[in-house]
Amino acid sequence: MLALSVTALVYATGGTKYVYVQLMYLPVLLSGLLFNARVAFWFGILAGLMMGPLMPLEVAENIYQPTEAWLFRILFFCLNGVCAGAVSGLLRHRIRLLEKVKTEIAMTYGRTLRALVVLIGERDDETADHCEQVAYNAVCLGEALALSDERIEVLYWSALLHDLGKVGIPEAILNKPGPLTPEERLEMQRHVDIGYRVILQASSEFAPIADVVAGHHERMDGTGYPKGLRAEQILIESRILSVIDVFEALTSVRPYHQAMTPEAALLMMQKESGRQFDARVLETFMGLLRRGEVMTTQDVAALERVKDRYHGDGLFLSKLKNA
Ligand SMILES: [Fe+2]
Repeated sequence: MLALSVTALVYATGGTKYVYVQLMYLPVLLSGLLFNARVAFWFGILAGLMMGPLMPLEVAENIYQPTEAWLFRILFFCLNGVCAGAVSGLLRHRIRLLEKVKTEIAMTYGRTLRALVVLIGERDDETADHCEQVAYNAVCLGEALALSDERIEVLYWSALLHDLGKVGIPEAILNKPGPLTPEERLEMQRHVDIGYRVILQASSEFAPIADVVAGHHERMDGTGYPKGLRAEQILIESRILSVIDVFEALTSVRPYHQAMTPEAALLMMQKESGRQFDARVLETFMGLLRRGEVMTTQDVAALERVKDRYHGDGLFLSKLKNA
């Protein structure tokens, strides 16, 4: 269409003697850039013929071009088109390679995170199961609170890895049947910092995940650890994790207590609404629980479904694509 318009313009403005004939390079170049060298070659010939024997040199005086003039023009059009096609082909090949590398990097990120999850399972099966369930419920709560897909993926991974730091806590403290001494409690609290540092060491790309993990024991009233952050200073993902983590802990059998029913656990947690927990997050969680939309006992099939959804490369692939 562009080539036909240029042909009409050249004829209307007096013939190939005038400058408008040069405009035909534009569709020829475009054919190379948008398609490939072969298409551009044939388009160059077609464009050359349109500006060829039937197009006068001077329309008003009815003077026609010498044969060698339009033949040379065809050659230049073809050369131009083929060069543009070759450059665009090379660029397309490079872009494909780059996409492949990006996908591989993203998958490596995913595998690294999954390896950290496996590490938790190797140390303690119970902690691993707890983390899987926390991750499932965190995703449900994140969706109910209308978090973006990207934040929900961060939430998923931080929920899975929130207790990663426990691999660095002595077994005797981790599984102590009775209450912890103040020193033991301090030692136990180190799991937040250990988890944060290990995740960050694995890759700086995991910083959003590490930040959420760092805040999962903070409390709304500022009495949490490690920084004593308050309310909005605590990331929403960490506030979500805090609710789910405590609920999961209260409703499971632990060395130091029997499992509570979900109702009893919620009743206890409600007393801490606004103090330990974000009231809106807790309220939303209670709604989900009432509607049976969160997991209260292990449901292996549901856990596998969520695991498949966040196999690891999605988050990092989208991040890399935006880079
Ligand atoms: Fe924790």
